Amino acid sequence: MTTDSLRSRYEELKVQINFHNYRYHVLDAPVISDAEFDRLLSELKRIEAEHPDWVTPDSPTQRAGAKPADRFEKVRHPAPILSLANAFGAEDARAWFERIRKIDDRVERAKFVVEPKIDGLSVVLHYRDGVFVQGATRGDGEVGEDITANLRTVKAIPLKIPVESKEFSVISKQLSVGGVPKYLVVRGEAFIPIQEFEELNRRLEEAGEKTYLNPRNTAAGSLRQLDPALTASRPITLLVYQIVHAEGGTVPASQWEILQYLKALGFPVTDVARRFDTLEEAIAYAETWDKRRDDLPYEADGMVIKIDDLNLAAELGFVGKDPRGAIAFKFPAREVTTTLKEIGVAVGRTGVLTPYAVLEPVEIGGVIVERATLHNFDYIAEKDIRVGDRVLVKRAGEVIPYVIGPVTEARTGREKPYKPPQTCPACGQPVEHFEGEVAWYCVNAACPAQLIRNVEHFVSRGAMDIVGMGIKIVEKLIEAGKVKDVADLYTLTREDILEAVTKKDRKTEKQPPGKIADNLLAAIEASKTRPLARLIAALGIRGVGEVVAADLAGHFEDLDALSKASVEDLQQIEGIGPNIAEGIVDWFGREANRKVLAKLKKAGVWPRGGKSKAESQKSDVFTGLTFVITGTLPAWSREEAKAFIESHGGKVTDSVSKKTSYLVLGENPGSKFEKAKALGVKIIGEEELRKMAG
Ligand code: IVH
Repeated sequence: MTTDSLRSRYEELKVQINFHNYRYHVLDAPVISDAEFDRLLSELKRIEAEHPDWVTPDSPTQRAGAKPADRFEKVRHPAPILSLANAFGAEDARAWFERIRKIDDRVERAKFVVEPKIDGLSVVLHYRDGVFVQGATRGDGEVGEDITANLRTVKAIPLKIPVESKEFSVISKQLSVGGVPKYLVVRGEAFIPIQEFEELNRRLEEAGEKTYLNPRNTAAGSLRQLDPALTASRPITLLVYQIVHAEGGTVPASQWEILQYLKALGFPVTDVARRFDTLEEAIAYAETWDKRRDDLPYEADGMVIKIDDLNLAAELGFVGKDPRGAIAFKFPAREVTTTLKEIGVAVGRTGVLTPYAVLEPVEIGGVIVERATLHNFDYIAEKDIRVGDRVLVKRAGEVIPYVIGPVTEARTGREKPYKPPQTCPACGQPVEHFEGEVAWYCVNAACPAQLIRNVEHFVSRGAMDIVGMGIKIVEKLIEAGKVKDVADLYTLTREDILEAVTKKDRKTEKQPPGKIADNLLAAIEASKTRPLARLIAALGIRGVGEVVAADLAGHFEDLDALSKASVEDLQQIEGIGPNIAEGIVDWFGREANRKVLAKLKKAGVWPRGGKSKAESQKSDVFTGLTFVITGTLPAWSREEAKAFIESHGGKVTDSVSKKTSYLVLGENPGSKFEKAKALGVKIIGEEELRKMAG
């Protein structure tokens, strides 16, 4: 090859690789395989090795540049990098509108653009003649830190714009602006998507390294340190939303058009933004995202409502560092810091000791939080959580509040490291630890704290479903010594129940005690006919929830047969590993539990197991397929859906992976839905599932 043709091949390779990089990292829609991409890249590297003088800053090999010196240089921004005033709810947003309407009544006819407000790190990117030459943090709004070397490693940042010239010329014509300005400075938010963050923390945990507190701090920390190789190893991406400065060319004068323009240049731009004719519509849209914020792949702390006409917005001026032409419509906070006053320990129904945080009361998303879970004792040690620490607490949706970790920067030296208890806080017996598990247990079958939880679980809806047997009545029955184990429920007399009902606060009762007692007796009687799976789940064996209980009930005739199974027998059953198997054998080996079984049998609570798998198999249409169920299905319970899939030869697992064939989607799905979408797993509903089986 002649030098000239090699040179043009080199230029072509750069364009191609930058284009495929954009397809992959910005559009999430690659058009070549990873192997083909790698081939192009190695060809480029070969040429650069021969001709080092050809290498330019927009070459994809320059993403990992040289380390900056021992500190960041300062960069003066070409225009102030402004912040935003906050609105907490619709009223605040309307008040903002009133304020600016008084300044300029053209606001009445203004349009509004609503965009997500990403919780990340604000970055400013400079392009000269279309080439990325410098990137900076926001700093104080006037001067930022030069983090170019780190930003180069972020693949979503185009090194050369436009990435697709044809696409860009079409849009720039539509928007009646010319070519790319000779000097263009844009602003965006760098962040780590939630899923990638969780994966990163999982990897760090597996490697025994310290995990990060939240995506925002991780993104900011990774960009504001001096090793670009570390930045490169973090899953940072960004979304761009503003043109800070343009010289030698024209850019659109409306926010809505700016977003399209930036997108056409090859920048990643949100697809959640919308434009509205009235503020009320804009508010309504922002509010819908408040409810759906978990559908966003990144953490957003609100939506930004912007006046679309950027000339009008600029004329409105600013208050301090906040422009009048836009407002942050904040979502209620989910993470706050507060003081950890004490660590308490609760005893669960299986005897698990769970530490919880007693907090300086704090409001999170409209609720006062005084307690938060600390998961387990290992968690406290791993995160080095100390009594007296300032801690970051999260409360989101249905999840119970939990302590994310300590704010170590706020330590005074008076914080006290925590030692887990060696005895059960409820009964004083020594606690035990099982091989391979993180939890500590109180194994005293007579522990009163456990007994209450045990009975509560036994009577619950997913278990024996004894309607009307509330926690208060359970406590009274235990206090009076009428219930010493779950089997005692079946020998209760009308008098026993009457006494418990009358002792508890009667004023709130709508029914006379006699009626309550009769109903309860009938409910207890009715529970005797629950299927074996329910009874197994009701026993509260460590590791045995509804799903495992259903598996066991499919394999064993009755509780006698199950009690004779060995750890090896149990492990033959799919979905049962050594820990669960040992938990089961351990449970049936205990004298106290054997007594309970004998009493249950005597009381006639002795259901027979379902048919064996082979007998109940209806077809094998699902053989080799793996299903995951998420959310509430319209007609079936989880158990029923699982049984249906298995009866047609399919497998049901708990977590979504690349190997998952189908996600069966119900109402209010969890994170499995997001994960399935991200992995491209096929998603079906209950109806479709039924049709597939024919
Ligand atoms: S507009 C005049 N738009 O939120 C422009 N900011 O609390 C002012 N942010 O410092 C900013 N997403 O770092 C704007 N779509 C978005 C944003 C956004 C995140 C950040 C930005 C700013 C902070 C203000």
